[in-house]
Amino acid sequence: MAASSVWGTNLRISIFGESHGPAVGVVIDGLPAGEPIDRDALLAQMARRAPGRDKSSTPRKEADTPEFLSGMLNGRTTGAPLCIVIQNTNTRSGDYANLMQVPRPGHSDYPAYIHYHGCNDVRGGGHFSGRLTSCLCAAGAVCRQILERRGIHIGSHVAAVGPVRDAVLPGPEVPQELLHRLSEAYFPVIGEGVEEQMRAVIEEARMARDSVGGIVECAVTGLPAGLGGPLFGGVESLFSSILFGIPAVKGVEFGEGFGAASLRGSENNDPYTVAENGEIRTVSNHAGGILGGITTGMPLVFRIAVKPTASISQKQRSVDLQIRSETELEVHGRHDPCIVPRAAPVAESAAAVAALELLLLNGALRP
Ligand SMILES: Cc1cc2nc3c(=O)[nH]c(=O)nc-3n(C[C@H](O)[C@H](O)[C@H](O)COP(=O)(O)O)c2cc1C
Repeated sequence: MAASSVWGTNLRISIFGESHGPAVGVVIDGLPAGEPIDRDALLAQMARRAPGRDKSSTPRKEADTPEFLSGMLNGRTTGAPLCIVIQNTNTRSGDYANLMQVPRPGHSDYPAYIHYHGCNDVRGGGHFSGRLTSCLCAAGAVCRQILERRGIHIGSHVAAVGPVRDAVLPGPEVPQELLHRLSEAYFPVIGEGVEEQMRAVIEEARMARDSVGGIVECAVTGLPAGLGGPLFGGVESLFSSILFGIPAVKGVEFGEGFGAASLRGSENNDPYTVAENGEIRTVSNHAGGILGGITTGMPLVFRIAVKPTASISQKQRSVDLQIRSETELEVHGRHDPCIVPRAAPVAESAAAVAALELLLLNGALRP
């Protein structure tokens, strides 16, 4: 069985820890040496994902303070593996006592129980917890700074929560100021008044002891044309392999995605043009910046579908694994009625790690 908490070839991240263990963390191997890392900028990205800010997210409050154990000296990467540890400070394991015996529908409890022969840590979701995405955010925040210095910018918005949709991302060019604003927001949306409508849907789900899912749309601008490769080494494969590592992500699409299936070629093709500076651009971007698995130089645009949080406090049907009979389950603990806004910085972070890996794989990271 492959070790599945390690991702990457030239830039390799390894994520460890359990939700209710002493700490979670990440080792990032393959970073270029001598890159200044701004700690405040890193903390700001991690704070966007951290729980407990308002009623739309879990009341588990945790500061998510990263400690650098190696790979940094005087605020610069040394080139040695960078190890970041985040202590778990706010755990209430008693809430999870019954889940080893009675698995939550929609969560990893049952398949993980079989896979690990009942040895897995089920407290707080263990190694499957959304808590582990703090590590991805830490790694992404480091990579993002390295990319920004080379003119590559990343931002995302909550494109949908339940039936409420945000305004569409402008295109084919995505303004850098918009990406910057979105990448600093806790609830990133483009349209006016959309956040309030989305919050109302989340609150309604919370009051009904239920949860709601949604879509995050993310753009990466400034990637040069020509990166990636055909067939199995394509940019879509690289990005989706890390995006599907985000818990609760059930779909990934690039550019027009599934929508392309109902378009005509004349609608879906992106005509070429020569920009004022002589660069080859396209007048639309249905391709989402990728053709033949290779970047076109246009913004790379993808969407992830985030399912509704599995842990809901309504009574649900389940089974008692010890006596193998049907039973009812009431999930305790602190859970988000909607994880979509918190998934936005995680998607951006995954994109940052993937984009840096893409540059390194192609020998295209400028000094
Ligand atoms: C930021 C974030 C927070 C999450 N918080 C919760 C949570 O509070 N309760 C829960 O049941 N699932 C939560 N999840 C999702 C589960 O970890 C995930 O659904 C579970 O591991 C099963 O994996 P799968 O949904 O990818 O199949 C969260 C995911 C993310 C990205």
